[in-house]
Amino acid sequence: MLNRRGFLTSSLASSLAAGLVMPGNLWAQLQSAPSGLPDRSLLNSNEDAYWREMRQQFLIPPDEVYLNNGTVGSSPAPVLRAIFESYEASEKLNEADPEDYPIWGYASWNKFRDPLAAFVGCDRNEIALLRNATEANSYIANGLDLKAGDEVLMTDQEHPGGEMPWQLRARRYGIVVKKITLPKPVDSPAQVLNLFNDAITPRTGVLFFSHISTFSGAVLPARELSALARSKGIISAVDGAHVPGMMRLNLHDLGCDLYSSSPHKWLQAPKGSGFLYVRDEIIDRMWNTIATEGWDDPKIRAERFQRIGSSNVPALAGLRAAIQLANDIGMDRIERRHRQLGDYILAAMIKRGAQSWTSPDASMRCAIVTVNVPPLPRMELESWLWKERKIRIRGADPHKLRLSTPYYISKQDIDRFLDCFDEFRKKKGAA
Ligand SMILES: Cc1ncc(COP(=O)(O)O)c(C=O)c1O
Repeated sequence: MLNRRGFLTSSLASSLAAGLVMPGNLWAQLQSAPSGLPDRSLLNSNEDAYWREMRQQFLIPPDEVYLNNGTVGSSPAPVLRAIFESYEASEKLNEADPEDYPIWGYASWNKFRDPLAAFVGCDRNEIALLRNATEANSYIANGLDLKAGDEVLMTDQEHPGGEMPWQLRARRYGIVVKKITLPKPVDSPAQVLNLFNDAITPRTGVLFFSHISTFSGAVLPARELSALARSKGIISAVDGAHVPGMMRLNLHDLGCDLYSSSPHKWLQAPKGSGFLYVRDEIIDRMWNTIATEGWDDPKIRAERFQRIGSSNVPALAGLRAAIQLANDIGMDRIERRHRQLGDYILAAMIKRGAQSWTSPDASMRCAIVTVNVPPLPRMELESWLWKERKIRIRGADPHKLRLSTPYYISKQDIDRFLDCFDEFRKKKGAA
């Protein structure tokens, strides 16, 4: 077996020989990334230096500031190496077992489910490896027994990949989608709990909500909401697209029935590596959505939901490497860093007169900050920042900005964004 450096060196050599070197010279970039992580002791002596060194693991050019991790993360060198090693190992199709092929979609893949289950605090048999939160949410909305007129209660801040699977079911089979309106910002966990509690009716079959809202960054009290649902015999289904890799997560502790996620956001995993969690007691109540061999086999537990036909194993190798990286850094450290950076940018924007849509309660926010900045036209600002200043943010019309702060950016990066924000505002005469 080739070691990493050997693999990359031989890949680089053969790519050069074949004239296949990619634009930007990816192989060389991966080779030049530090082979190990920064020394932990740096965290105590000079925390900023520690994260600056970590930044070198990412391909994002040094002069670019990426404040849009809420849309998609960037897989760093250890993850990319694992993906390429997996291709190197699998594309030769020379496995010893005559029935062994690199196909995810027909098997248990416990070597990938085990580290994921340990990382998110559940049992391997409760995990189905899927491609993203949208797919997992579709399994949930299609899979539960609900009759016409039964209600699904959600917030008005769900992502289309969370809401639309239910809307499809509503249009086709007559279930009813009901929404509570979340205040902008949400003030306290009790406020959210009361809103849900007051909207529950005898027809409510499912509580569906984002653990972290894509719209406002609000971290909802998922454990309390799941307990509320359980106390009333209602299924709790949580869209956790943003959670793994942003905050510590323990699904058994959370107590929800179903959970979906996209680790290609905050865990910086490869694109297309998602998962569905189904609490063991719920597995036998769920219909499958994609059906092939094993679709209805109760013995394989949640594995039957990952029987999706031939799929891309190297994405799973990348997911495992992303989990390893987060464990090596430490999720407590990552979460702390996310909170520091989020608080830093939020305070600076409030100082500039922005209206915060992120909760004033520190327990209800983490690394996604949203602010409303009328009268600034957000799309003009977003385009100008990217085209003229190499800073990526995301917003929503007319004036909302969503600022995501992954652990590897620095306070200097944030200051650069703030200076540019001031510059743009001055240009627009709105200072
Ligand atoms: C809360 C939430 N759910 C679902 C999705 C959809 O994620 P994916 O495109 O990875 O399926 C997103 C994407 O931003 C999201 O923020």
